[in-house]
This record gives sequence, structure tokens and C-alpha cells, in this order.
Amino acid sequence: MSTLIKYISTQTDVKNIDHYDDSFVNNIIEQRTAALKLKDIETYSNFLINSKAEQLFFFKALNNNYSEFYRNPFTFYSIENLLFPVFVGQLLNKNKKEIRVWSAASSAGQEAYSLAILFEEYQMKCADLFPYRIFATDKCSEEINKAKTGMYKEVEFLQMSFSRIKKWFSKKGDNYFIDPNLQKNIHFSVFDLLNKSTNSPGSSIYGDFDLIICANILFYYKPMYQMRIIEKLVANLSKGGYLIVGEIERHLLLENNYKEIYPQSGIFQPK
Ligand SMILES: C[S@@+](CC[C@H](N)C(=O)[O-])C[C@H]1O[C@@H](n2cnc3c(N)ncnc32)[C@H](O)[C@@H]1O
Repeated sequence: MSTLIKYISTQTDVKNIDHYDDSFVNNIIEQRTAALKLKDIETYSNFLINSKAEQLFFFKALNNNYSEFYRNPFTFYSIENLLFPVFVGQLLNKNKKEIRVWSAASSAGQEAYSLAILFEEYQMKCADLFPYRIFATDKCSEEINKAKTGMYKEVEFLQMSFSRIKKWFSKKGDNYFIDPNLQKNIHFSVFDLLNKSTNSPGSSIYGDFDLIICANILFYYKPMYQMRIIEKLVANLSKGGYLIVGEIERHLLLENNYKEIYPQSGIFQPK
């Protein structure tokens, strides 16, 4: 940890700064120094130490909540075309009663609702029952509360077709509200993946997920914490289950001997 980051961590209320990747933290420090037109990063850290408002801003930057529907379209295409047929086979063979999914850093629910739409549309296409349950968690309670309201802005739909937006949302003013039917199979709750005393979301009772998606969060953290998260997720997979990470994080799994089921899909299985 750089001396500056160590100094900030001892002098402010910004929690667990030592868990974050140094270059990620340094980038935020440099961006804030430039945005506030301060002379150098030392001037910024003194400002940070003396301003509670800036500490809040800094903490929010560390916990970037950016998300959108179908953020990586190829991953969602692969889920539908490669995983759903496998799941249907398992349901038909009565190996499973339902497909269990965990969206483990779900932000305001965009990822979980994207999956629910995919499940519902596939169910209609196959004219077949395709029972599923999605557990969507994030460590940030504000994001989970937003997810429960199901209210979004147009900028969050950049990767979503117009017909899908029309079908699954109703527009009131500038806001788009999710079809409440999509909420019936999703359980939202607060869950910190780095909390050592919890293994899986309480609402899921026993984990055992057929699919876990944990995208665009690992790169925040130092390797030791990335591995702690990956191991927790893998421990929660059912036999033959799949783990999905973001485009920027695929290399971590490839380097750690996980098998990507199709190149660039971001969908992995433990070997
Ligand atoms: C950049 S967003 C990504 C959201 C979504 N997965 C996506 O790819 O669009 C990262 C989310 O991870 C959450 N997060 C960061 N650290 C976490 C942790 N230790 N446990 C659970 N959630 C965490 C943040 O609160 C944030 O909402």
C-alpha cells in the first residue's frame, strides 16, 4: 500500500481502503485532484482528511455502482443459447426443480432483471415451464433499495432493444418502471462478499446455485481479496454450475485454471 493511501486510511473514516487495488485508488485520487483543480495529490489528501463531504464522495467513487441492462450482450446471448438448453435438459430429467441464480454484485438490479427477462422470454418461446429463482445481492443497501423500486432511466438501456423496453417497462415522465411480474422470482438483499462470517445470501438458505454472475467488481480489489471472493462464489456453485465474470475480469479466472465454456463469453466452470 502506498504511503499516501496508508495515511488516508489512518486519518479518515473511509473503510477497508487497504482491500482495494492501489492503482484503482490512485486513479481516483488523481481524478479528484484534477477535478478540484488542486496543486497535487498531497494537497488533495489533506483536503480529504479534513472534509467529511469529500470522504463520502471518495467512498462512493471506491464503490462505483455503475450498471446497465445487458451490460455485456455477448454474455447474455451465451447464457440464452448455451446454458438455457442445458438447464431445460436438467429440469426435464427431473435432476432439478428450479434453476437457482445468484447475481452477487447486482448494483440496482439491472443484471438480475436482465436475467429475469431472459428467463421469462425463453419460457414463452419454449411454451414450457422454466422455473427459476434469482437472488440478487450487493453490499450497498441504497442500491438494493433502488433495485426493489424497479425504477430506471433511459441511459441504462443502451444495450437493450426498443421492443424489449416497451414490453417490460412502463414509462412515467422520465422514469421507466419494471413490470412487477419480473419481481416475483427475485429476492433482493444486502450481502458483502468479503464478510468472512457469511457464505451465501440468507434468503437462499443453502446456496447451491446453477449460475452465479459476479461482474465488474473483482478488479477493484487486491489479488488476495479477488481470490477470496472467487473461492466463496465457487463454493456456492451446484455440481456442474457456471460462474460469470465481467469482460475485464476474465483473465483472472483463465490464469487460475478455470475453463471458459466458450471463448469471450465470460462464462466459466471450475475444472
Ligand atoms: C460496477 S458495479 C457492477 C454491477 C453489475 N454487476 C454490472 O456488471 O453491471 C459493482 C457493484 O459491486 C458492489 N460491490 C463492491 N464490493 C462488494 C462486495 N465486497 N460485496 C458485494 N458487493 C460489492 C458495489 O456496491 C457495486 O454496486
